[in-house]
Amino acid sequence: PAAPVAAAAAHPSRLPPYEALLAQLQRVRAILGRPLTLAEKILYAHLRDPDATLADASSSKDPSRVRGKLYLPLAVDRLAMQDASAQMALLQFMTCGLAQTAVPASVHCDHLIQAFEGAEADLKRSIASNKEVFAFLESACKKYGIEFWGPGSGIIHQIVLENYAAPGMLMLGTDSHTPNASGLGCLAIGVGGADAVDALTNTPWELQAPKVLNVHLSGTLSPWCTPKDIILHVVGALTVRGGTGHILEYTGPGLASLPATGLATMANMGAEMGATTSAFAYTQPMGEYLTATGRGHVARAAAAAAGELLTADADAEYDGRLEVNLDTLEPTINGPFTPDLATPLSQFVARAKAGEMGADARLSAALIGSCTNSSYADMARCASLARQARDQGLKVQTSFDVTPGSEQVRATVQRDGIQQDLQDVGARVLANACGPCIGQWDRRELKGEENVILTSFNRNFRGRNDGNSKTMNMLASPEIVTAMAFSGRLDFNPMTDSLPLPNGGSFRFQPPSGEELPTRGFTPGDETYLPQPCPAPVPETQIAISPDSTRLEHLAPFDSPFSGGNYELPSMRCLMRIRGKCTTDHISAAGPWLKYKGHLSNLAENTLIGAVNDEDGAVNSAYDCQGEGDARKDTIPGIAKRYRDRKQPWMLVADHNYGEGSAREHAALQPRFFGCNLILARSIARIAETNLRKQGVLTLLFADDADYARIAAGDIVETVNLGDLLRPGGDLSTQVRVRVTKPSGESFELDTKHSLSRAHLDWIRSGSALNLIREQAQR
Ligand code: F3S
Repeated sequence: PAAPVAAAAAHPSRLPPYEALLAQLQRVRAILGRPLTLAEKILYAHLRDPDATLADASSSKDPSRVRGKLYLPLAVDRLAMQDASAQMALLQFMTCGLAQTAVPASVHCDHLIQAFEGAEADLKRSIASNKEVFAFLESACKKYGIEFWGPGSGIIHQIVLENYAAPGMLMLGTDSHTPNASGLGCLAIGVGGADAVDALTNTPWELQAPKVLNVHLSGTLSPWCTPKDIILHVVGALTVRGGTGHILEYTGPGLASLPATGLATMANMGAEMGATTSAFAYTQPMGEYLTATGRGHVARAAAAAAGELLTADADAEYDGRLEVNLDTLEPTINGPFTPDLATPLSQFVARAKAGEMGADARLSAALIGSCTNSSYADMARCASLARQARDQGLKVQTSFDVTPGSEQVRATVQRDGIQQDLQDVGARVLANACGPCIGQWDRRELKGEENVILTSFNRNFRGRNDGNSKTMNMLASPEIVTAMAFSGRLDFNPMTDSLPLPNGGSFRFQPPSGEELPTRGFTPGDETYLPQPCPAPVPETQIAISPDSTRLEHLAPFDSPFSGGNYELPSMRCLMRIRGKCTTDHISAAGPWLKYKGHLSNLAENTLIGAVNDEDGAVNSAYDCQGEGDARKDTIPGIAKRYRDRKQPWMLVADHNYGEGSAREHAALQPRFFGCNLILARSIARIAETNLRKQGVLTLLFADDADYARIAAGDIVETVNLGDLLRPGGDLSTQVRVRVTKPSGESFELDTKHSLSRAHLDWIRSGSALNLIREQAQR
């Protein structure tokens, strides 16, 4: 690699601390005394205090004493943030009052780049329209010593793979496809901004020990099959919920020959099953990829640690097993609208021929690349198909877009003629950014009509790519997407069908082929994108937030409701009783609101607008018990604002699984911002519960589910004995009672239960986790 890349790759922050990890693993082995899976080894080797954490499971042969049970306070090696989620993560970090980050961190400008005309024009326009956000991120990176990858440098996960991921590391990222990096033998996990702040501030990051599901690969992939087809098949087998609470650990003889970038594709789409992440033992192709990206020294150190740290113990026990025989695997197409609707190519095409994909099985667009599938190997194999077709005088029969994952991949495929091969047959190259993968795809020519697209991306829920809910989006390998683009139809099987030629003949594709890694090495392309590794913080840097901005706003710390030794919450009004499903989307909607991710006051205007009021069955409807006539009724954020303006603390009553969905921390920040102190629910999704506690909102559950219906909007709710639990050194077994007083004066008490840990109580006592971090930093 070029000199700056080589210098960065040699930086000590890029080499995992193998010696320390091996020593910690020995400690863990001594405590548990049982064989360990690979996922357990890497995870537990990052425990802050294995003796304290694993004490309850000491010498137990039963993995369920740990997995799915214990909360693990972990030390994180590195953090990556993308431009959309980095805004709130950094705004929160700024309130902690620290001079620099505790672990190496990076910011990547990729999600805010819109795709419309092509790389150059799109980049220019997106930089202009997001100027203030990029300027803010750059200034915060400079001030706190964070590596800043500007717009055009590439997609977060590809850059992380090329530069930061290394076997045995524990990495976090503020993006759900962060597990992509696990393709290089680390554990990389997607989190929200509040968790990112844990890493940035050296606060133990807490994860409930995941269960471990073994995916066993036997056989060998056929020439048309790729690692993408393995994961498309696995998502189909396990479904979109099948990975929840689990790490998928791949083993078996089928694994050794797969390229590291292919493992990254498989790890990337573990997110589609809700998996915490995926784990792969160290392989030779990982070493080759590390070497090709300037990290031969990491490859050598990893190889030395592999036997003990980077492979599962032979007799490790798993929580489940899925067998995949690569010999019988076919290329697979998943969708539309859900990634687990997997259909082998031959069946898919047969259905399209039978008219089941609509009378007109025409493709409106084919897209390859994105963080999921834009490796050198992917592009080289697609180019081999393009060359075959070009030599016969064929061009693609639908729009065909290529999204390179990084400037390094783009520049290398350009140098090696791969980009030209693709352009020769009609491909358009988009910016090195997310673009059409995340709804940043302007297709104004379509005007919302029904159409079908085929992509090599990872997600395909309605509206994901172009905001049009009638776009049927199918997922496939980049090779299948490319080949099918030459017929422009879904009823064409490139493995078996022929295409008509202009001269009256016909043409059938040979299977794709290509180098896994560039024989001439990677070229970095535009070197101005390369940040200095772990730059020294520049404390005098002014953070770029304009007071008139509608997109960015400094966060003010939340006040603690407790003072002078009083640990009871103040009298709260019940704002509403929420009926049924209330996901993070109901609490903090996405879509057009995304532009306010860095501006809490503006974003909070959407608080709970999707929630159903149990008292009138209406969505986004609430009542102000102190209002008169028409002034009584308002939207939910409308009432929440009235309470805040009156300095009236409030609480919510919620049904089952409040806050399920994503890790979106805004869903916790927003109610807290308006003055919510308590969520009392039948049950609360775990991540939402942690996020709420981090922001200082107490969460309690009804001891008796039926009590849900006894509290109504306008009731006054008070805690009776919270102090027994909350005071420093309080009794964790305390069952908190709350007193409810109706507007009529009638009053009663009811029991609640909780799962608060001492760390959660510390956060709540301080008013938020950030307040606590700040207090500790000031001491
Ligand atoms: Fe970007 Fe899509 Fe990947 S939004 S990070 S290219 S999943």
